[in-house]
Amino acid sequence: MQLPLSPTTQALAYLVSAILFIFALKGLTHPATARRGNLFGMLGMAIALGATLAGAEVQGYWLIGFAGAIGGVIGIVVARRIQMTAMPQLVAALHSFVGMAAVLVALGTFINRAQAGTLDALLIGELSAGIVIGAITFTGSVIAFAKLQGIMSGAPIKFLGQHALNALIALTTIALAVHFASTGSWVSLVLMTLLAFALGGTLIIPIGGADMPVIISMLNSYSGWAAAATGFTLHNHLLIIVGALVGFSGAILSFIMCRAMNRSIINVVFGGFGTDSSASGSAGAAVAAEKGVKSASVEDAVYWMEDANRVIVVPGYGMAVAQAQHAVKEMMELLQARDVEVRFAIHPVAGRMPGHMNVLLAEADIPYEQVQEMDEINPAFASTDVVLVVGANDVVNPAAKEDKSSPIYGMPILEAGKARQVYFLKRSMRPGYSGVDNLLFYQDNTSLIFGDAKDTIEGMVSSLKGGGH
Ligand code: TAP
Repeated sequence: MQLPLSPTTQALAYLVSAILFIFALKGLTHPATARRGNLFGMLGMAIALGATLAGAEVQGYWLIGFAGAIGGVIGIVVARRIQMTAMPQLVAALHSFVGMAAVLVALGTFINRAQAGTLDALLIGELSAGIVIGAITFTGSVIAFAKLQGIMSGAPIKFLGQHALNALIALTTIALAVHFASTGSWVSLVLMTLLAFALGGTLIIPIGGADMPVIISMLNSYSGWAAAATGFTLHNHLLIIVGALVGFSGAILSFIMCRAMNRSIINVVFGGFGTDSSASGSAGAAVAAEKGVKSASVEDAVYWMEDANRVIVVPGYGMAVAQAQHAVKEMMELLQARDVEVRFAIHPVAGRMPGHMNVLLAEADIPYEQVQEMDEINPAFASTDVVLVVGANDVVNPAAKEDKSSPIYGMPILEAGKARQVYFLKRSMRPGYSGVDNLLFYQDNTSLIFGDAKDTIEGMVSSLKGGGH
């Protein structure tokens, strides 16, 4: 093979990469095949990068190598250091890079083509799409990062006339894009770019709390469309294909998450849901005072679990915080040795990112056959002896079904409350992410075991090893 690659060889290499990316997405749909999916993705990306770098139009290898080395080192350090719980903000940060890259490529192309005198309306239309989508993705992702990282408050920021202001900015941006496409005016370009950056911020600030994952997934989709627009600008077919894959997969994931919360995407984008913990917490505190909450010891739970036929573990965000998954696996094996059937119930929005619980359970080598999704496992709760809720809260809250005034009303839940005994492993009476008090705490068959989930499970493990009670 000769360098530079002929356009035909390059196109062929791009086709192979695109197919590998499709296999990668397919692999990532199930924990059992996710590793293979990742390998396909890496191979596809290596081929894509190699074919692009070997292309005839590439110049300045030193500069590319230098930038690549700096980016590569930062990438390795971040990837090794990042905590699982901080993945959403890392993803948000990465989306912001895609957005900014789309803006810079479009601006660079505009300057080059303006100097060469080869601008035309179609190209300017493509550039406008790249700049507007890229700029919205950039500032939207930066705000999402700041909210998730705690740099700014995670609560929705709302003010009067917000939707009207967003509509005004959006319409003005479109008008400037049309003017830019028909005249090639610098002034329209600069104003359009600035307004698109502003729109990314004003669209995301009213969103907060439990809606952030949906927004991250939507920004993922935007970043795909920004990349696709860049692909049109650069006449790079692979970028168009990959952009479309990311754009659609992000949109589909947003849709799946909305369905899991029984909400529409419009409701998420304009809702400002679920962070007003003070309002919902006070009603819960009143109920708590009225009904009281039972607390239990590790030994109580072990007593019931040892003799149970069926135990279901409901993992949630607290299991990730406590890093209790390995202890949970050990407890599972000890129970199985006593002929207890142990399964894991996964709610689609448990934890803080899609698939969060699946990743943790896979990390602890818990067999996939024992891990079941909500719809599959919900009918089993009624015939279950013990449910162990390990750091989960919102995903088992019956308020989602019973309390029409609750912000989480309508969200499908794991029906843990139907089991004979429910043990919650948590540190305090604090509510979960949505800030809503959990009605299941007050049910007769529920007890809370206070403490760090890992310590509690380790206590259960040693109790089971020591012959239980
Ligand atoms: P949450 O409702 O957030 O509840 C987590 C519970 O874990 C808390 O009540 C907390 O109580 C407990 N906890 C924290 N650290 C702990 C530790 N070290 N040991 C024991 N318990 C601990 O979690 P969930 O049930 O998984 O629900 C997820 C929520 O997050 C939903 O509202 C969802 O919409 C939202 N959300 C989901 C995602 C995605 S895509 N999965 C992303 C962002 C937000 P204590 O403080 O009392 O210990």
